[in-house]
Amino acid sequence: TGYITLDPGFVNTGAASSAIAYIDGDAGILRYRGYPIEQLAQHSTFIEVSYLLIYGELPTKEQLEGFTSKINRHTLLHEDLKRFFDGFPRDAHPMPVLSSAVSALSTFYQDSLNPFDEPNVELSTIRLLAKVPTLAAYAYKKSIGQPFLYPDNSQGLVENFLRMTFGLPAEPYDVDPEVAKALDLLFILHADHEQNCSTSTVRLVGSSEANLFASISAGINALFGPLHGGANSAVLDMLEGIRLDGGDVDKFVERVKNKEKGVRLMGFGHRVYKNYDPRAKIIKKTADDILAKLGVQDELLDIAKKLEEKALSDDYFVERKLYPNVDFYTGLIYRALGFPTKYFTVLFALGRLPGWIAHWREMIQDPATKIGRPRQIYTGEKERDYTPISDR
Ligand code: CMC
Repeated sequence: TGYITLDPGFVNTGAASSAIAYIDGDAGILRYRGYPIEQLAQHSTFIEVSYLLIYGELPTKEQLEGFTSKINRHTLLHEDLKRFFDGFPRDAHPMPVLSSAVSALSTFYQDSLNPFDEPNVELSTIRLLAKVPTLAAYAYKKSIGQPFLYPDNSQGLVENFLRMTFGLPAEPYDVDPEVAKALDLLFILHADHEQNCSTSTVRLVGSSEANLFASISAGINALFGPLHGGANSAVLDMLEGIRLDGGDVDKFVERVKNKEKGVRLMGFGHRVYKNYDPRAKIIKKTADDILAKLGVQDELLDIAKKLEEKALSDDYFVERKLYPNVDFYTGLIYRALGFPTKYFTVLFALGRLPGWIAHWREMIQDPATKIGRPRQIYTGEKERDYTPISDR
């Protein structure tokens, strides 16, 4: 069987060639299709970035209009899919609710099953971009017992999502443009990050020629974990814990350094970035701006800043090159926008969706793709003889 190299966590194993995102972890650089994340954050929109990631180029005006109107035509959910939500407990975590609903899209759109049928891959792409925000809003409505709102396709993708999340049927809901802009920016910053855990999951599931919906549903489940997308909720829980404990960041940092079981500085550290995460830089500034604009005073923001300052000057973090990552300040913004902590990772999923789709499509079109099938080093028993149950 040849020589097998063990690489837990695939720290040094390249699984794909990809032209979508570029990261230089030492320099703190992130580019989508060659465009620096800072420029996209400043000038672009989430829908435009979605187009860029999936199709490889920035759209012309006509292309963007066509793309937007196709998405707008698919935002409604099948009424039977809506009833799906009735079966979940009201206090269910919204991430498994979302992944289940996305998985169920395969049952409603059985034309999606052949991954090589390009017109249907295109249709599945549009359906996902259009319906996942609706599903995400319904997962929230279900958790608070409020009625679902139909999408209003005269509005932009982010505005529509905010209205379906926070609006009520009998009342007009005016989306605050500042809030929509902040959320759009956060979605841009989350839109792709090459071969991270959830994207690798999407590719691995897709490598068996499972369809787009099944693969993305698996990616949502991978994102759920606290070391990945779940970190944004975990940061808030950590900050709240420090606040309740009197706001003593030094004490918390000591617990992290002593490697107390289950205690990590959440929102810090990254497999690839050994420098300040460029997304975190933008997000830190956005947190300051949006909280000020909304007139929100949040004690947790002060704790987060103290914690960052303390960690960045502490040998433990310096030696290990641990810097704030994308998740460190996002939760504070989501909280200021009115989202409950449990819901934060769903927002990450909404942002990452175009990246997952782009990777699945790149994978399926790449002639070098083979089914993902890692090897192992067997450490179990050598051959032995079966003992009858009476002799055990
Ligand atoms: N707090 C304390 N120590 C840490 C942390 C942290 N956040 N991150 C890494 N370390 C230590 C770790 O204990 C190890 O030390 P030692 O060599 O003494 O054993 C060293 O740094 C290297 O860590 P690692 O776990 O081998 O690194 P990794 O590349 O396997 O893990 C990570 C990367 C992101 C999972 C990890 O840094 C972590 O758990 N961070 C906290 C969770 C988090 O914020 N996740 C979000 C990641 S960014 C966006 C996303 O993917 O969602």
